[in-house]
Amino acid sequence: MKDDNFLKENNARHLWHPMGAPADSHGTPPKIIKGAEGVKITDIDGHSAVDAVGGLWCVNLGYSNNVVKEAIAKQLYDLPYYSAFAGTSNPPAIEASYAVREFFDADGMTRVFFTSGGSDSVETALRLSRQYHRLRGEPTRIKFLSLKKGYHGTHFGGASVNGNNRFRINYEPLLPGCFHLPAPYTYRNPFNETDPAQLAQNIAAAMEDEIAFQGANTIAAFIMEPIQGAGGVIVPDASFMRLMREICDRHGILMISDEVITGFGRSGDWSGARHWGVQPDMMTVAKGITSGYFPVGACMVGDKVADVFENDQTGEAGIFHGYTYSAHPVGSAAVVACLSETLRLDTKTNAAARGTQLYDGVRKLAEKHDIIGDVRGGHGLMTGIELVSDKAAKTPMDMATMKKVHEATYQAGAMVRLGAHNVLMSPPLTISEAEVNTILSALDAGFSAA
Ligand SMILES: Cc1ncc(COP(=O)(O)O)c(C=O)c1O
Repeated sequence: MKDDNFLKENNARHLWHPMGAPADSHGTPPKIIKGAEGVKITDIDGHSAVDAVGGLWCVNLGYSNNVVKEAIAKQLYDLPYYSAFAGTSNPPAIEASYAVREFFDADGMTRVFFTSGGSDSVETALRLSRQYHRLRGEPTRIKFLSLKKGYHGTHFGGASVNGNNRFRINYEPLLPGCFHLPAPYTYRNPFNETDPAQLAQNIAAAMEDEIAFQGANTIAAFIMEPIQGAGGVIVPDASFMRLMREICDRHGILMISDEVITGFGRSGDWSGARHWGVQPDMMTVAKGITSGYFPVGACMVGDKVADVFENDQTGEAGIFHGYTYSAHPVGSAAVVACLSETLRLDTKTNAAARGTQLYDGVRKLAEKHDIIGDVRGGHGLMTGIELVSDKAAKTPMDMATMKKVHEATYQAGAMVRLGAHNVLMSPPLTISEAEVNTILSALDAGFSAA
């Protein structure tokens, strides 16, 4: 490894970072995170902070899970790679598919298709949903419905169903046939509705209207996050996902639950769909499937979809889709170890308790700091804080102030993430009560610096 001077000198010179402008990274070089232990990260200057981001909503087990690390290391020596394209498999892939299926049994998921991450998983779900309808004799069902404020990754399919325009505009034209419904976002919505249950009803009515307009027989699938993450931690009313499920069923539309963030305990339940009492037709996961230690994702399907593929009579059920790293042996070994650790540590239970602590603590901070316009969370370890410069007018806070808050929070002991004018938090699910208090006092310092 080169010395620290080399690293600082070359920081962001040769590397273009995702989700940022190259020139901005020249002006304000990224923090170089050199090490981590438990739920704390340490930068190149030796400053440590509680990682309230969990890497990127993914390091669910914290940074020190040796069971997962050792499983990865061992597998590298046994078999570092082999293709899983039809015709060959490998032992950890078979074991991982069994473990994932068991983990999501209560969600009705019975088959798994491994990918390299969340965007790949979403792409897989969108493609398979079209193929499902072709196989069952309804090839006109090609369109997709989704929610504004949703985030479904950055592939062209995923970006097309994304509901935030900053991930879209530079890359247009996107996939035709994608239509967006309002988000269950009580703080801002086109109905001016602050009651979450009524807002859910309004969105359901908008969905019925859109389906009637498009023609149900043209729509393949509806994709949603059970709790919208990157869009600002938008928690819907408890009735919302069930309402969407019922409409999808009535119109023959597949429901895809995008659980890339909410899967594996983050919501306080093992899946976001389970949290709301819904069984989707397909699920997409990544992140917590390996606690971020190895890039793996998965698209899962339930029996309704599996039966159509497995009992096909048309000869068109070949899945001509997949990735070099689908069912990667090292990734699969990481999945097996990670799921076993996730269950052993019962991370969902700690996520629920610590999530409530974090949410309640931030709501208290909102009484003190006028720049806090809205606080969202209370369902596991996902908390969003929307900052405004004028509370009555709900004017989004400017980026310079957001960056000031971010830096002061970091210096006071917690790394948080900015998503536009939102502060987003998704710490490891293993976090302790004292570490949540550290995040809260760091945020207090951060808001005071605005
Ligand atoms: C809900 C959701 N779907 C998809 C993705 C894309 O996953 P990835 O960044 O692994 O491609 C993300 C990433 O944050 C996500 O939050």
